[in-house]
Amino acid sequence: MKLILFGAPGAGKGTQASKIADRLGVPTISTGNIIREAIAAGTELGKKVKEYSNAGKLVPDEVVIGMLSERISRADCANGFILDGFPRTIAQAEALDALGVEIECALSLEVPDEDIERRMTGRRSCPACGETYHIIYNPPTSEGRCDKCSAELIRRADDAPETVQARLAVYHEQTEPVKAYYDAKGKLKTVDGRQAVEKVTEDAYAALGI
Ligand code: AP5
Ligand code: MG
Repeated sequence: MKLILFGAPGAGKGTQASKIADRLGVPTISTGNIIREAIAAGTELGKKVKEYSNAGKLVPDEVVIGMLSERISRADCANGFILDGFPRTIAQAEALDALGVEIECALSLEVPDEDIERRMTGRRSCPACGETYHIIYNPPTSEGRCDKCSAELIRRADDAPETVQARLAVYHEQTEPVKAYYDAKGKLKTVDGRQAVEKVTEDAYAALGI
């Protein structure tokens, strides 16, 4: 199964992608995680994308499309994958089509802007495996440590309130039109992302029929 998880910054894409991926036994491909790993490792790619990512702006299409096409060509993607944070522009959606990727469903997690900031201020992320937590809504079993790999959790560089506002503006302007792109193909499904994490997961499974 090839799925797209769609939604505003902080809508819960990473949180739900992790659960759906475990259930389906396919990898999650988060372009945001790939970008943050490259920045942390100080690679050429990391140097190129750091200023965009930290300012909450989109990384140029050609850079992200190149990254994504390399990642989906690997063996672990043969039986499907979940895309978290890609495509984010119409050009990226068209590039996915041009690569011959048949998407079964674009699942949109719907959360209004006013709920986003408190999700971001309480978020803690694992720099090693990319798992996401919230100090109140979705805490790790052991404070400050990742449940999956035990690494020390961090706050993301782009979670400062002013950067979150910039990311929301970018989302509405450049990414929201991608919803209509998949709706026109009859592939868009929506879930109310304001509910508790477990209920969102339940609704996502029902929408996907898994
Ligand atoms: P990316 O990493 O994709 O960030 P994003 O889209 O802004 O989304 P987030 O990861 O912040 O949120 P999420 O929806 O995954 O929510 P989460 O599950 O963590 O992109 C970062 C940057 O990389 C971009 O700004 C850009 O620069 C660049 N980039 C990436 N992809 C790109 C692309 N394709 N093109 C160009 N540039 C690209 O949840 C958030 C918090 O809420 C957590 O604390 C979580 O525990 C909590 N939470 C989750 N669900 C619930 C719930 N139901 N109730 C209460 N709390 C919840
Ligand atoms: Mg995420």
